[in-house]
Amino acid sequence: MTGIIYGSSTGNTENVAKMIADKLGDSELINVSELSADIIQKFDTVLLGSSTWGCGDLQDDWDSGIDTLKEADLSGKKVGFFGCGDSQMYADTFVDAIGLLYEAIDDSAAKVVGKTSTEGYEFDSSKAVVDGDFIGLVIDEDNQSEMTVERVDAWVESIK
Ligand SMILES: Cc1cc2nc3c(=O)[nH]c(=O)nc-3n(C[C@H](O)[C@H](O)[C@H](O)COP(=O)(O)O)c2cc1C
Repeated sequence: MTGIIYGSSTGNTENVAKMIADKLGDSELINVSELSADIIQKFDTVLLGSSTWGCGDLQDDWDSGIDTLKEADLSGKKVGFFGCGDSQMYADTFVDAIGLLYEAIDDSAAKVVGKTSTEGYEFDSSKAVVDGDFIGLVIDEDNQSEMTVERVDAWVESIK
């Protein structure tokens, strides 16, 4: 069973979370404002989503969720990342929140799934880029919404 845990201010990342759930099947959607350590333990796969706000910050609802995540025992679990950003207006901090989520779990024994290529995106800098690839699924509803369905579908196939 997969837990899809997301934070979203204007609904874009929430929509992506719902698309992932529809495509994946056997999964549960959890708004990060309701996250607890018990919830994380229920799942063998955990998908973590956040849009990026401010200047490369996590979406607000992750405020306490990020500490819950840091303390969670993710050993043996598969973990994936997704999120929305704006590559034109925020080219220097593009989808940084995805990278912040990854940094929060980096030390644990989780198996990271769902890296993607940066090909097809134009930006200057992103914390979500790790060893030349995005660490997860990157969606840009502000500039490339026509790519969203295709990107979500390909990502879900890759983590299945
Ligand atoms: C004030 C403001 C700050 C933003 N900061 C960033 C940013 O630093 N990096 C980025 O990639 N996108 C940034 N964005 C774009 C949002 O992440 C993007 O619109 C996203 O789709 C919102 O998703 P949500 O509805 O799930 O919150 C910002 C948007 C606003 C309005």
